[in-house]
Amino acid sequence: MPQNRVLSGIQPTGEPHLGNLLGAVRWWVADQREGDCFYCVVDLHGLTVAGDPDQRRAASMTMATLLLAAGLDPDSCTLFLQSHVPEHTQLAWLLECTASFGELRRMTQFKDKSAKEGEEAARVGLFTYPCLMAADILLYDADRVPVGDDQRQHLELTRNLAQRFNARYGSDVFVVPEAQIPPPGRGARIMNLQEPERKMSKSAGSPQGVIGLMEDPRDIERKVRRAVTDADDGPDAVRYDTAAKPGVSSLLELLATLEGTRPEEVAARYSRYGPLKADLAAAVVAAVEPIQARYRELDKDPGYVASVLASGAQRAGHVAAATLERAYDAVGLLRSGP
Ligand code: TYM
Repeated sequence: MPQNRVLSGIQPTGEPHLGNLLGAVRWWVADQREGDCFYCVVDLHGLTVAGDPDQRRAASMTMATLLLAAGLDPDSCTLFLQSHVPEHTQLAWLLECTASFGELRRMTQFKDKSAKEGEEAARVGLFTYPCLMAADILLYDADRVPVGDDQRQHLELTRNLAQRFNARYGSDVFVVPEAQIPPPGRGARIMNLQEPERKMSKSAGSPQGVIGLMEDPRDIERKVRRAVTDADDGPDAVRYDTAAKPGVSSLLELLATLEGTRPEEVAARYSRYGPLKADLAAAVVAAVEPIQARYRELDKDPGYVASVLASGAQRAGHVAAATLERAYDAVGLLRSGP
């Protein structure tokens, strides 16, 4: 079995935000020369909610371009689109026949997302989504899966499915992966700046509290300035106390994550909100500006991005086909041919 295999994925739907960068993409970039890394734009997952086909096409390209702009290097990692490798949906079926209805029902992401329009209207794909995600991971024999904290439950399910499948079919078909989540307060869970009790998200919460990676620096500054803090702005207003002061604590976490320090250390440098917010805004802009500049360059050359995705799909397809073959064989599906 290969060693130090890494796989992770990101949905192309909605504008990518600071949470995606600090919880996941930044770690992908840092890891790409350490492991044998596969990074996937999970376009099929985007079909679990409504969307326009033209926007979908554009969003997949935008996300791939942005990942390259953020620092993924196609000579060091494999970047591809999920729908380019048909083995993902093929293995997902085997995993749907491994998972139980009860365990998928307990997935909090399904409960949250289906609550919006009601279970009656929720797409079956939204329900079975965790099996497709497990297939994304297991196809690549991934040892590690770098994700934000919100994916913890999906990773636990993936591990359970891999272990169950291996036990049921008496073989080591799948590598049981480990979730690799940033330390608490260091990017694991970036919060919405207007609703500090809620994670920053593409699909939920106040848009004024979400910082998009493509956003104009002036808008970023405005959003940080207006971030919710707490009523007391006395001399020791800046404290890291997530229970009593969730607003300011999430700003401290954000700045600590950007600086690579700890929130308590950042808190010690400030007594009032204003200077903290000014420094935070500058740090966020400094993090996104080079990505935006590189994006504008790459966006002029969609042929290059398409060629990266094509060779990524080819490389991913080889690995995926071998794993699917093992899984088909283990469950007892007859192979065609002599
Ligand atoms: P997605 O597209 O919602 O998010 C992509 C990555 O960003 C992380 N993230 C965050 N991290 C910190 N703070 C936040 N506020 C925040 N919001 C998002 C996510 O944890 C994720 O790592 N189901 C996945 C996509 C997926 C996947 C996979 C991931 C499909 N197949 C296989 C890993 C492996 C999702 O919806 O991520």
